[in-house]
Amino acid sequence: MSYFTEEASAETVNARIGAEANPRLAQVMAALVRHLHTFTKEVELTQDEWDHAIAFLTQTGQICTDERQEFILLSDILGLSMLVDAINNRRPEGATENTVLGPFHVAGAPERAMGETISLDGKGESCLYEGRVLDLEGQPVAGARIDVWSDNAEGYYDVQQPEIQPRWNNRGIFTTGADGRYAFRGIKPVSYPIPDDGPVGKLLGQLGRHPFRPAHMHYRVSAPGFRPIITHTFVGEDPYLTSDTVFGVKESLVAPFERVEAETLWRSPFDFVMVPEG
Ligand code: BEZ
Ligand code: FE
Repeated sequence: MSYFTEEASAETVNARIGAEANPRLAQVMAALVRHLHTFTKEVELTQDEWDHAIAFLTQTGQICTDERQEFILLSDILGLSMLVDAINNRRPEGATENTVLGPFHVAGAPERAMGETISLDGKGESCLYEGRVLDLEGQPVAGARIDVWSDNAEGYYDVQQPEIQPRWNNRGIFTTGADGRYAFRGIKPVSYPIPDDGPVGKLLGQLGRHPFRPAHMHYRVSAPGFRPIITHTFVGEDPYLTSDTVFGVKESLVAPFERVEAETLWRSPFDFVMVPEG
């Protein structure tokens, strides 16, 4: 054991980790301490800046409730959520890519019949979403559950407006048959700001960053024997496509949104390609 010095700061802290510590925890914490100390030395952090950082983290914790998770939002705008997602969801060429789950997924959405609508408030431009769930060989995946959710025409999820929107507005679960096909009606989603009335929104403003996400439809696709896919499809011409505040866009997830002269105004075809488990 040695006294603390500026030069050997990280080594001194990490030398205290005991032999009984969980090896993975010891590895992760030692690396975290090394990087934090290197960062602090690189920017020569002032006492005032550190006090500000502590106040920021305190406010981030204080605004959290069962419905609001400001730390995840912080991770999202720092690109950390997408980095963790990328590391944990490396997939072979041709498989559908993952992206962030986001805070607005609600388990237990209504199971709906193929072709049914998820839009219950009658607002927005109607869109037919359809395609297939396939394996890497292009064979249909039967029994795939497609859990979908989107914002409404005003850019809010039902859970953000429980007094205004019908419960389960723009949500539903569809299960594929033997042909792997799915179809449902929703609205062409619109871009919206992430909740920006807290410390994370304030930080975005101070950094000269906007809080918007480009318009997207969320999906969680699961099937027995396959790795679940958590992803979105994005509307191609959205002005925020290349500046998503949470970095969730991947080129392969930009879907066609075609204008059609039918009951629906738009059609968005997209196939999901699943990877076997293990
Ligand atoms: C969303 O797409 O629902 C979302 C993702 C990350 C942060 C906020 C919202
Ligand atoms: Fe979203």
